[in-house]
Amino acid sequence: MEVFTKKITLYHQVLKLNAEHKSIGLVPTMGALHAGHLSLIKKSKFENDVTIVSIFVNPTQFNDASDLQKYPRPIQTDMALLKNAGCDILFLPSENEMYSPSEKWDYEVGAIANDLEGVYRPGHFMGVTQIVYKLFTIIPAQKAYFGQKDYQQFLVIKHLVAHFNIPMVLVCCPIVREADGLALSSRNIHLSEPQRKKALLLHKTLSFIKNNYSKLPIDKLLQKVRTDFETEDDVQLEYIAFRDKYTLKPIVTINKAIVLIAAQVGNTRLIDNIMLD
Ligand code: PAJ
Repeated sequence: MEVFTKKITLYHQVLKLNAEHKSIGLVPTMGALHAGHLSLIKKSKFENDVTIVSIFVNPTQFNDASDLQKYPRPIQTDMALLKNAGCDILFLPSENEMYSPSEKWDYEVGAIANDLEGVYRPGHFMGVTQIVYKLFTIIPAQKAYFGQKDYQQFLVIKHLVAHFNIPMVLVCCPIVREADGLALSSRNIHLSEPQRKKALLLHKTLSFIKNNYSKLPIDKLLQKVRTDFETEDDVQLEYIAFRDKYTLKPIVTINKAIVLIAAQVGNTRLIDNIMLD
């Protein structure tokens, strides 16, 4: 595995690979890698000649300074996992390499970014689009791989790519879960053992909805969910939303619906979602 820390060197390497007609898959991450990230790498390796993974804990997408500060950065373990997964190139830039102090990012993400995560994490998608745009410019890959786990992020990035006519195919990969259903997340390490058990309520809720949406009306489903969360201490429901899976607007028909959930377990914020069809 080759490691690049400078964008210009990597850019020229990617141009060289493109000239050799090698197909390139990009997997952007913030590190603290787990099986969810590795599933994106596996998919990219299957579909491309060369797989490039970026690790950069992007400060502009954190609206909570303590969340940024405590974000895990186990770079040695990450590098070992990447080598083992067969990653060809790791892009590991510093903050100075990615940002200059005076720069601005004015891209208007639009309605899709102002809802759900956008309400609870103001400015988050501005930071995400800012860094992803930079990564897509430095690494002109043919395909980029993202997880359904951050489904709103995936749709926001789709808008970004359409807006700037970026010639890249975006691939959305399924959510990887623990055996008991908890969606893998770099933030799960902050959960204590009791909190880890309580965090299962997110997946249990989504499974309950998936199993019952054809039998019960949405307001009854929501009533049960709210009661479940109210009776669990140390867990705060932020939102549970039935949305159109293409637009994230409130649903017209349940067939095209995705259910998205966010909750705070202790001081750890978790998100999850499930498609209903
Ligand atoms: P990060 O949280 O590290 O996630 C990197 C990618 O892994 C994202 O596309 C995310 O959706 C995917 N992922 C996370 N958990 C997953 C799981 N359990 N199953 C499948 N995929 C999973 O998302 C980011 O980083 C950043 O916002 C980034 C796009 C890199 C921009 O900074």
